[in-house]
Amino acid sequence: MKPLCVTLSVNGQEYPLTLTRAATLLQILRNDLHLNGPRYGCGLGQCGACTVLIDDRAARSCVIPAVELDGRTITTLEGLAEHGRPHPVQEAFIEAQAAQCGYCLNGMIMTTVALLRSNPEPSEIEIRQALTGNLCRCGTHLEILDAVRRAVQGSLKRAAQAPPTTSAKGGAQT
Ligand code: FES
Ligand code: FES
Repeated sequence: MKPLCVTLSVNGQEYPLTLTRAATLLQILRNDLHLNGPRYGCGLGQCGACTVLIDDRAARSCVIPAVELDGRTITTLEGLAEHGRPHPVQEAFIEAQAAQCGYCLNGMIMTTVALLRSNPEPSEIEIRQALTGNLCRCGTHLEILDAVRRAVQGSLKRAAQAPPTTSAKGGAQT
């Protein structure tokens, strides 16, 4: 099969690549770009360990052909930190001591980031629904749910403390 030239945008950087149609996004991220945040779990789209954001939505990189992502925005766990600090969702997982072996945490964190970007104030049911397809073999689900609740509370607190956005005319936006 003829290789194809594509440019992947990953964590704010452009990567021109020559790929076969069979190469999954997870293979390219881990083997070619050396981004090991996304993990290989089932390889079947069923466990969530390989989750990344594609255009801000959680996606399972083990089943997505990389050639289909030309021009899309991909974010991995490595792309979450800002100014050398962990992302607030990562900090919430650390505070909650949510890891046992840690293998599932990439997927849990990326799914939580995607959830909060689309729904900054999720209910308990919405949190559980968002994470329902992410498996944790160690059974730390209670700590993980605690971490997500902490992330939601932290996000709401920061939104309440943020100064109002000013319009071009200098007035506060509603
Ligand atoms: S490794 Fe991708 S969903 Fe399990
Ligand atoms: S902490 Fe081990 S799989 Fe979740």
